[in-house]
Amino acid sequence: MIIQRVVLSSRPGKTGVPVPENFQTEEVTIPDKIQEGQVCVRTLYLSVDPYMRYRMNEDTDAEYLQAWQLSEVADGGGIGIVEDSKHTHLVKGDFVTSFNWPWQTKAILDGSLLQKLNPQLVDGHLSHFLGAAGITGLTALLGIREKGHVIPGANQTIVVSGAAGACGSSAGQIGRLEGCSRVVGITGTDEKCSILVSEMGFDAAINYKKGNVAEQLRDLCPAGVDVYFDNVGGDISDAVISQMNQNSHIILCGQISQYNKPMIYPPPLAPAIEEIRKARNITRERFLVLDYMDKHEAGVLQLCQWIKEGKLKARETVTRGLEKTGAAFQSMMTGGNIGKQIVLISE
Ligand SMILES: NC(=O)c1ccc[n+]([C@@H]2O[C@H](COP(=O)([O-])OP(=O)(O)OC[C@H]3O[C@@H](n4cnc5c(N)ncnc54)[C@H](OP(=O)(O)O)[C@@H]3O)[C@@H](O)[C@H]2O)c1
Repeated sequence: MIIQRVVLSSRPGKTGVPVPENFQTEEVTIPDKIQEGQVCVRTLYLSVDPYMRYRMNEDTDAEYLQAWQLSEVADGGGIGIVEDSKHTHLVKGDFVTSFNWPWQTKAILDGSLLQKLNPQLVDGHLSHFLGAAGITGLTALLGIREKGHVIPGANQTIVVSGAAGACGSSAGQIGRLEGCSRVVGITGTDEKCSILVSEMGFDAAINYKKGNVAEQLRDLCPAGVDVYFDNVGGDISDAVISQMNQNSHIILCGQISQYNKPMIYPPPLAPAIEEIRKARNITRERFLVLDYMDKHEAGVLQLCQWIKEGKLKARETVTRGLEKTGAAFQSMMTGGNIGKQIVLISE
């Protein structure tokens, strides 16, 4: 059977900006017949995520991330439907997912590496399992629960950077659901700011590309910042940390502003900011959602329930077509998405 797939055709280098041309779509033939234990799946949705920037490097500098190989198919979070099965627990028509879904239209996969999905949990909106009801929603939920120290009724202010993205938009809403009384987002366009406030219940949002972030933060967080959900690092984080309260907490989710630079993760703070952090006893512990696998199942159920109840708004930006996957990745890395960036491969 002839299928399409996307391979990594060139590397941007550790300091280069990724471009869609780093990827190439090609046709290949896969076997018509499957073996015992295997399933043939048709891909429905692919996820593109910031961590993939490291997979484009020859060496990812992270033990839990494998580099993509040149001329080989890329992979990441994906969802598909089983079209043929020789696996005891999967039948034709089942919806399945994996963190290592190949970027191809159809694939023959080992059934034991796939997780079955229940579409009823998301009212049939399967792509949510890659976003607000999947790994980015879990990152927001578990990041806040494990590292945020949110105390209901304590009048805490949470600030979220990268606030209109997949993790950020969930984090602001979950910060409120978990008990923060003031939620302020930082993002890159006026349109995103207005969506955060009008649709997602943020109290205020700052466009970091306009005006002075520190000044706006001072106005919008008069009681200081108690919890900071950090998706971006760099100057934005320096401005937030400077306004954090004594004994406050940083949820160190990601540092996307630094991903096109060679660095150790997490990058150390600038000396003056580190001094503030220490003097105010602000925690900044590394957080990785994959370290909490035992909490994923219950977390997904909680996220699905909030989405059904309308308490958690799950925005998506959908790009159509396998050949657009590289372009969707580049667009997400440069702010083209609102909420979770999804690639629709087939319906
Ligand atoms: N710790 C974990 O386990 C874990 C799990 C998943 C994701 N993450 C991290 O969480 C962060 C968000 O991931 P996501 O999947 O939710 O992506 P996302 O926020 O949906 O998309 C990336 C967003 O980052 C913003 N951005 C890009 N360059 C920036 C810069 N130089 N300065 C400020 N903002 C910039 C852009 O929005 P603007 O328009 O606002 O610039 C863009 O839309 C990433 O750092 C990722 O690595 C961590």
